[in-house]
Order: sequence, then C-alpha cells, then structure tokens
Amino acid sequence: MARITASVYTSHVPAIGAAIDLGKTHEPYWQPVFQGYEFGKQWLKDNTPDVIFLVYNDHATAFSLDMIPTFAIGTAAEYQPADEGWGPRPVPKVIGHPELSAHIAQSVIQQDFDLTIVNKMDVDHGLTVPLSLMCGQPQAWPCPVIPFAVNVVQYPVPSGQRCFNLGKAIAKAVASFDQDLKVQIWGTGGMSHQLQGPRAGLINKDFDNDFLDKLINDPEAAASIPHIHYVREAGSEGIELVMWLIARGAMSDAAGGPKPRAVRRFYHVPASNTAVGHLILENT
Ligand code: DHB
Ligand code: FE
Repeated sequence: MARITASVYTSHVPAIGAAIDLGKTHEPYWQPVFQGYEFGKQWLKDNTPDVIFLVYNDHATAFSLDMIPTFAIGTAAEYQPADEGWGPRPVPKVIGHPELSAHIAQSVIQQDFDLTIVNKMDVDHGLTVPLSLMCGQPQAWPCPVIPFAVNVVQYPVPSGQRCFNLGKAIAKAVASFDQDLKVQIWGTGGMSHQLQGPRAGLINKDFDNDFLDKLINDPEAAASIPHIHYVREAGSEGIELVMWLIARGAMSDAAGGPKPRAVRRFYHVPASNTAVGHLILENT
C-alpha cells in the first residue's frame, strides 16, 4: 500500500526562483536563505519519495479570476512551468502520477470534499519555487509530483480547519492506493506577508514562530485559527499558511497515530516581502 512518509513546509517567494535562475544565490542578501535549505536538499536526496503531493496556490496564472476552484487536483501526465509575464522559468517540466491522482480524487470526493479535476494546467511559482528550493537545479525533478491547488487568492477561501480535515482525507486516500509507494506531502506558501495596501511589507516574527510551534506540537490549535486572525497578524497574504494545514492534517498523529519527528526548522526574514519558513516532519 502507499503511505505518507513525511511532510515538508516551505515558502514559495517568486524572487527566490529568480535568484536561482539568475545565479544570485551566493549574493549576501540571498546566501542565508539558500544556506537554510542545504539540510533539506540533502535530506530529500537521502529520502527521495516515489511521489510528492504538492499543495500550493495558483496566483491567477492557470486559473484566471474568471474561474476559481477552491481545491483542484492535477490528474495530468505532465505540467509545464507557467509563463507569469517574463517567460516560463527555466526549470524541468513536472511529471505527474495520473493513476495516484485519479485514486485520490475518487477517494477524497467520496469523503465529501468536492475537488475540481484538472487534466491540463501550467504550474506557477507556487509549485516550482518549493521544488527549486528543495532540489536545486536538476535536469529533471527527482520524482513525479501531483499538483494540488488551493484558492487563497479570492475570498471566500477555505478555513484552516477544513484544510486540516482535507489533509486527513488525503492521507486515507493515499493509504488505500494499492501500490507500494512512499509519498511526501508538501504544504507551501506563507509565512507572514502583505503585498499591497497601507500595510504592504508587513512581517510578524512572533506570529510566524508561534505558528511553527503549533504546527509541530499542537496542529489542532493551528487549524482553529480563524481567517481574520491571519489577516490581522500575518498580513493579507499570510492566509497562504492554511495550505500548510493540509499537509499537517495528512500526518499520522492527526488520525490517532504517533507524533511526527521534526527533523528541520528554519526561519529567515526577509526574502522579498516575505518571512521564509521551512519545516520537515517525518512520520515515525
Ligand atoms: C511575494 C510573495 C508571494 O507569496 C507571492 O506569491 C508573490 C510575491 C513577495 O514576497 O514578493
Ligand atoms: Fe504567494
């Protein structure tokens, strides 16, 4: 049977992708950010899964504001890096896992979460920057990736609690797939940031570190944070953190199993307009 072996959490700041693509990772501004991911890059080499289930948000790239699915699962055989206005990033195409995607869609929809099925889409920085941070610049990504897009761009967006419960449903779906696959689930986006309005540039280290504490030790408490609290404390784009709760809900302890082991925790301010946060939790 398939099983979730670990979860990875990381910011997806687009300027990080540009720094990698333009060869700026050793510049003084960027060096501490990339240094913070050296552990994760080695860890991923040592713990390469068969599939990554990557929870991210599309930034009005594949889905324009004409049509906005709350939860969308990619079921395609492959996905191209999106052109977000300055040409597609020079990164490998993403190879999917249509069989596991179709199985998860079937199982999760039967568990009463209405997913949108996406047979064709391009993937933006929300998905490619986390892969770049964890993999560097390979010729091909190390394994197939299932893109799972969450609407955190246009209100109403899903609650943290619903995201956490969805993670539990995804874990059940993975556990009922009849192939012996190691699956990682990644939750991306965040941490505190606001890109527009009078509070543009807002970063809240206390909120972010408290969120990391809760995510590790008391995920139910993190799941109960209401939208208004994210907006007040973490800025308008801090709401991206609900995507981390999907990954956290898929860990064994959310279904009564043992607590995960936190093997990596990293936090750095600033990267572009954003506080960068990164965690790796292993199921034990
Ligand atoms: C920035 C961060 C984001 O999450 C994003 O989607 C776009 C821009 C930033 O910090 O500049
Ligand atoms: Fe974003």
